[in-house]
Amino acid sequence: MPGVLASIPTYTLDGVDSREVTVEVDVRRGLPAFAIVGLPGPAVKEARDRVRSALVNSGFDFPMSRLTANLAPASVRKVGPSFDLALAVAVLAASGQLDSGGLEDLAVCGELSLGGELRPVRGALAMATGARRAGMKRLAVPEECAGEAALVEGLDVVGVPTLARFVAMARGEWTPEPALPACAAPQAQPPDLCDVRGQRDARRALEIAAAGGHNVLMVGPPGVGKTMLARRLPGILPAPSLEEALEVTQIHGAAGLTRGGLVAERPFRAPHHTISAPGLIGGGSVPRPGEITLAHRGVLFLDELPEFSRPALEALRQPLEAGSIEVMRSQRTLVFPAAFNLIAACNPCPCAKPGGACTCSDLDRARYHRRLSGPLMDRIDLTCQLDPRPPVVGAEPSEASEGVRARVEAARLAQRERLAGSPAACNAELVEAEVAAMVRGSAGLRRILHRSGMSARGHDRVVRVAQTIADLDGREALGAADVEEAVAYRAAGSEAMAVAA
Ligand SMILES: Nc1ncnc2c1ncn2[C@@H]1O[C@H](COP(=O)(O)OP(=O)(O)O)[C@@H](O)[C@H]1O
Ligand SMILES: [Mg+2]
Repeated sequence: MPGVLASIPTYTLDGVDSREVTVEVDVRRGLPAFAIVGLPGPAVKEARDRVRSALVNSGFDFPMSRLTANLAPASVRKVGPSFDLALAVAVLAASGQLDSGGLEDLAVCGELSLGGELRPVRGALAMATGARRAGMKRLAVPEECAGEAALVEGLDVVGVPTLARFVAMARGEWTPEPALPACAAPQAQPPDLCDVRGQRDARRALEIAAAGGHNVLMVGPPGVGKTMLARRLPGILPAPSLEEALEVTQIHGAAGLTRGGLVAERPFRAPHHTISAPGLIGGGSVPRPGEITLAHRGVLFLDELPEFSRPALEALRQPLEAGSIEVMRSQRTLVFPAAFNLIAACNPCPCAKPGGACTCSDLDRARYHRRLSGPLMDRIDLTCQLDPRPPVVGAEPSEASEGVRARVEAARLAQRERLAGSPAACNAELVEAEVAAMVRGSAGLRRILHRSGMSARGHDRVVRVAQTIADLDGREALGAADVEEAVAYRAAGSEAMAVAA
């Protein structure tokens, strides 16, 4: 007798995106057996056991026949338990317990408990994006994931609590309300800049960094406010656009950091300096986003920058240049987004003791700074030395983040208007030709750049920062003072590194 075949579309996570997988089940007469092909290793046994128990405990029959389930295409590496629901539904359809008429244009995702409840899966937004791309009309997901999946437009998402309810829906016996897009509960407000006393230069550097998307290095002894300042950078960045928030939500959802809906804040990531290169940039046999991707559209804070491993620091070069990172796997390359504001901090010397008490030899210092390779320092636009004096208690309170953010937003708006039609969204992303055009007309500006004795790449980066300084001041045209200030921030980097090199 020919077998009865049912096939159900579902999705598997692929980095921070998803790929379509079709679950086919074939039921034919023979000794009872349930074989699953296309799933790696022990996952097969686990999926088989969960699906069987969930079906029986939901009041359905587990067919006493020969069942073969195939997860296609075989070439796609399947991860996670999100295939359970598709497997169970395909078994029901192939064994005649569920009419396939109710399953048209419907994709499903979800892990099953032994009792038949649907458990949330990682990456609901990525999967919903995949379903829309594949032209599906409807997607059924576990209830907890529905608000995240529903962020995708042009796709009806339904949240389903149990396998039994899913079947009731497919039979037309239960009509769930379509899921509405949800917002993740906002996290506590980022701390405010008004808490930071003094440190005028560093505050200025932070404002420029926020306004133009530039990278900053703060150099100073312990306890002067480097960490405080870094944590306050997200609070002066403009609120993310909807598109940016969706990118962040999809990445964080795929990484299992989902908070049930749209993440409308810029991320702040501060990995410890002992992190491995794959932990920082992403990777693994099942590629996972690293900290730089979790910081996408937000802030990456690297405290004690010279203490990071050499491979980790080297790996930062590509994303700092391109805003994304290519992660190699056995057969192909995945691209993870990684556009972030880098803010790094380091001590003036490895012993980190204040001025007179320093016990470092010149060699110790040179070795400490050499860890920051030239190519990495080349990509840091603003270096500022922090004031080592203790903050004055009871002095005038400093300006709050709100006022700074208003200036940052105005400067960003000016950039967006000027850059309409360019792939760059802010000055840090200007391409070389655009940068060259900005100084072509002015011999004075070219002279300042020439005097600075920097490389051509250095010139480009200085001009980008100078443009941000002008934008913050509400001017379009670059002035000599803008370029001089930008040169000083860049020169501070070489000076800090050259202390004893
Ligand atoms: N400029 C400052 N203004 C106000 N408080 C400060 C300042 N610098 C340091 N502090 C206090 O010292 C603590 C440590 O500062 P922190 O930012 O961690 O220093 P660093 O990272 O430079 O070692 C802060 O929590 C804060 O209480
Ligand atoms: Mg610190």
